[in-house]
This record gives sequence, C-alpha cells and structure tokens, in this order.
Amino acid sequence: MRQTDTGDWVRAPAKINLTLHVTGQRDDGYHLLDSLVVFAHVGDKLRLTAGDDVALEVSGPLAAGVPTDDRNLVWRAAELTGWRGRIELEKRLPHGGGIGGGSSDAGAFLRAVGWQKSAVSLGADVPVCHFGQPARMSGIGDQITPAGDVMTFFAVLVNPNVHIATPKVFQNLVAKTNPPMPGLPAPGAGGRVWIEWLAAQRNDLQDAAQEVAPIIRDVCVALAETDDVLLVRMSGSGATCFGLYPSAEVARAAAETLSQQHPNWWCVPTVLN
Ligand code: C5P
Repeated sequence: MRQTDTGDWVRAPAKINLTLHVTGQRDDGYHLLDSLVVFAHVGDKLRLTAGDDVALEVSGPLAAGVPTDDRNLVWRAAELTGWRGRIELEKRLPHGGGIGGGSSDAGAFLRAVGWQKSAVSLGADVPVCHFGQPARMSGIGDQITPAGDVMTFFAVLVNPNVHIATPKVFQNLVAKTNPPMPGLPAPGAGGRVWIEWLAAQRNDLQDAAQEVAPIIRDVCVALAETDDVLLVRMSGSGATCFGLYPSAEVARAAAETLSQQHPNWWCVPTVLN
C-alpha cells in the first residue's frame, strides 16, 4: 500500500448499472445480484497528500451536506487501508443517487493507494468501483468479472434531487428470485445488438424504488419523451435514471430540453464505457 501523494487529481466516475437483476437472497438478508456496470465520464475527483492524520476537505458544486468525517466512505476507505493524510474531494455527483457517489470516491481512493484486497466491508458497490472498468457484478456485489468489450454509449443522467435509502428499496422488493442475465453480446457487437440486448434486461429494483419515490416514474417518462432516445432505465437503487442516445449531440440536446423543463433536476449528458 502506497503511503504517497497522488499529486494529480484522480477521477471517481459515476457508476451506472445498465442492468440490475436480483436473483436471490442470502440468509443474512443481503440480496444476490447480477448487474452489468459501466462508468461515466462525469464524476467526482480526489487528490491525496500523505501526512500524519486523516483530514477530508470537500468542495465542488454538490459538496453541500457531504460529511467530512468517518460517515464519509472515503474516510472509511482510508481507515481500512491505514493510509493517512489530506484528502481533497471535489463533489460533482449527487450522493444517495444510485450512481455510486460515495462508493466511487472510495473506489478511486483504493485504486490511488494501490489497495489489492477486498473492500466489500465498505459497501456492496465499492468492489466494482474499486475495479473501475466495465464489469459484471454478482454475489452481493463482491464478485467482479471484467466485462471487457462493452460498447461506448452516449447517455443523459437525470436525478430529481431525491436521495433514496438503499435498504428501504430492498425492503420494498416483492420478487427476490428473478432470472440472471444471459451472456453479454459478443465482442464487437454493434449498437443495435447492444440496445436490443439491454432492452431485454431489467433493473429489478425499479418498481420498489418508485414506491419509495414516485418521482422516478416522472423522470423515466420525461426521458422517454426526449428525441431519439434508445433506452431508459434506473441505475442502482435510484433515484438517478439514464437515457441512451445514438450520438453525443443528440444526448446533449436531450439534456438541454430536460434541464429547461425541469430546472431543479440534475441533468448531465455524458459518455459511458
Ligand atoms: O452495502 P451497502 O451499504 O451499499 O448496502 C446498503 C443496504 O442495501 C444493505 O444494508 C442492505 O439492506 C441492502 N443491500 C442488499 N443486498 C445487496 C446490497 C445491499 O440487501 N447486495
């Protein structure tokens, strides 16, 4: 484990569950998942400067309300590894939004300090964020299989400024034993094949999340009404939903339209890969 500075800022990209199948439940209550996870160009950033004590400074457009002590997953990641020093965290992602806000920060921290061991004790989304590349996530989130050749998608991420407590969504889940994903499209598959394949998959948490936060339905309707949208789905346990588009220009236009219609929503065009 490196006790060094990162010098430069390191990226903590948004995590997107393109699919999220709930396939069972363990005796301890945790659910078994089968999820295809990719990462967005939009994300938080962090910079580490080694020192004697852990200190966390949070800045950026979405810094409000983010804890700067051991309630923050980055702090807990530092404790797990034994690294000490100053952590500067620039928040651009909504936390509690289903796109890994805190988990992605912790994952980026663990990559930056060269942590090689499991980090599932920090949360079920942390191992995939630690890996930081397209992956099939299974078990309770602790089993990561590189997904390799996932195509690049142009997307819009939308969060209606609602924070959702993940346990509440899992508690509301009715069907807990659903089919896993079939095999991924073959390497080199084109956009049409990928979109058809994704359309046949699910986010099994979506109905339960909509019970907790009915506004998710409005977000999906608004995304579905944007020009040329190819697929609309919720990420993680919500409330962030995403739309996929055929080009960066079309995604940008959709994000602009949504921002005008819903000035209080967080609407960001981005690239997923
Ligand atoms: O691990 P994390 O803190 O992200 O999980 C929050 C909560 O979500 C857990 O306490 C559990 O209630 C639920 N969860 C689950 N099965 C998973 C992941 C999370 O039931 N695989």
